[in-house]
Amino acid sequence: MSSQKLDVVVREIAEEMKAREDRGEVARYIPQLARADPEAFGIAVIDADGEAHVGGDADVPFSIQSVSKVFTLTLALGKVGDRLWRRVGKEPSGTAFNSIVQLEHESGIPRNPFINAGAIAVTDVILSGHQPREALGEILRFMRFLADDLTIAIDEGVAGSEQRTGFRNAALANYMRAFGNLENPVEYTLGVYFHHCAIAMSCRQLAMAARFLAHGGRNPSTGLNVVTAERARRINALMLTCGHYDGSGEFAYRVGLPGKSGVGGGILAVAPGKASIAVWSPGLDASGNSHLGRIALEALTRRMGWSIF
Ligand code: DON
Repeated sequence: MSSQKLDVVVREIAEEMKAREDRGEVARYIPQLARADPEAFGIAVIDADGEAHVGGDADVPFSIQSVSKVFTLTLALGKVGDRLWRRVGKEPSGTAFNSIVQLEHESGIPRNPFINAGAIAVTDVILSGHQPREALGEILRFMRFLADDLTIAIDEGVAGSEQRTGFRNAALANYMRAFGNLENPVEYTLGVYFHHCAIAMSCRQLAMAARFLAHGGRNPSTGLNVVTAERARRINALMLTCGHYDGSGEFAYRVGLPGKSGVGGGILAVAPGKASIAVWSPGLDASGNSHLGRIALEALTRRMGWSIF
């Protein structure tokens, strides 16, 4: 019954979002992302029984960008556990995703693992002396394992585009390196970071990959434990407080779920015990988060009663 209701709600939302004229602005600072179609909209919800409810462009791959930071955080915690928190904080930044200002006063330790500086430090932990190619292979294998889909790949065009123009990220990385908070050659760490941001996935694949976060650390689709229940709770807590940068308060207020956005227009959200959700619409709001993605998630949680509050 509730599965039927979810089906109807997801379809309604996809239709409503396709028809809207306010679509936000597609990211242009990474030239390749400027080519995204602002008319695109996709949604995929995988419920507790593993059933997928999809609408719109749910099977079209897009650049996941900062959504990848949820998965690199999970990998880095798996490698070094709570020692990770010596390299990066757990507090909301209240600043833009690519801001440098706090690093100067805070000894080169980024506020959280989701702002660019924090995600670059996390990538450095995953790299830890290995070749960039090996670290990237590990991240890609992890995504394929979580989504149970070997077709997931990196969009080399997007990675190259950011590599040629990512001067702010280069500044963040060099600045952290000056404080001793980057251990690998800057170009190695940045190379891996740009490439994991350039992973292309569809809403359906992303929602599948995040099932472990909605179900106490275990992916019920594959039956495999990914992390402990405690760690899944903590990753969700960070998504709720930091997942949308300086728009995190607004997202929690309107949607009421842990969520992580990317400048490709994707948002991953987690309704604990109920569903994993991915939406995609390339137009962004002023904080760099998907404009219609957030509106769609707000409609979904309201109609399904899924806010955690
Ligand atoms: O480093 C960057 O700027 C991009 N590769 C990722 C930023 C991002 O997705 C911010 N999210 N809304």
